[in-house]
Amino acid sequence: MKKNRKIFIAVDTNSTSRAKKIIQYTKKLKIGYKFGLEFFNSKNGRSFVSKLKKKIVFADLKLNDIPNTCSSTIKTLRDLKINYLTVHISSGLDSLKAVKNFSGKTKIVGVSTLTSLNDKDLRETGHTRSVKNLVIQQAKLAKKANLDAIVCSAHEAPYVKKIFKKEIITPGIRLVGDKAKDQKRIMTPKKAFENGANSIVIGRSITKGNIRKNIKKLIKSLN
Ligand code: C5P
Repeated sequence: MKKNRKIFIAVDTNSTSRAKKIIQYTKKLKIGYKFGLEFFNSKNGRSFVSKLKKKIVFADLKLNDIPNTCSSTIKTLRDLKINYLTVHISSGLDSLKAVKNFSGKTKIVGVSTLTSLNDKDLRETGHTRSVKNLVIQQAKLAKKANLDAIVCSAHEAPYVKKIFKKEIITPGIRLVGDKAKDQKRIMTPKKAFENGANSIVIGRSITKGNIRKNIKKLIKSLN
């Protein structure tokens, strides 16, 4: 795999023993671990993250609130060594700036439009723009707020790249042959990197079933 490319494994489980297994089976790789709402809100999730050593920790808490709540939240996370923290770009420029203000060494990642949504889903929520145009607008706001990274699908990466010059992280990744499930804007790891992603987030394609076998398949697909 090329040097400047990163892989984040989505540790989407409520079980610390499953999380340990995922980390153990992938420890030889230079990989980051993404912990989302399911893991952080599980009984022992936060404390598990607080004890991790020498790992790239991605807290996918997707903050989406008023500026004061967002900045207060980031302050309560200070005891953890978090490398990346997500905030929804749709929470607005003031919230994004508030989070950035208190981020310290943590990289603030703006989440654009969820990869589980398509144009029809957006219309249902009252948006009049297409996914592509909304993500372009969100990339402009992420740039204005001086965020450190952005999350979008690999389909939008080529357009986002022209606006947002820092790290582009793409979830919605599936190994060849794997089902999309609830994701609607998916791509294979190789194609996502070719499309301009700097980092990919991959969950169920790795963590469901035989983790070791899935990891081998992922590495092979990137060589
Ligand atoms: O299992 P799968 O590979 O679909 O997991 C994708 C992960 O990325 C999940 O943890 C999900 O919460 C996260 N994510 C996403 N789309 C976004 C932002 C985050 O799928 N736009």
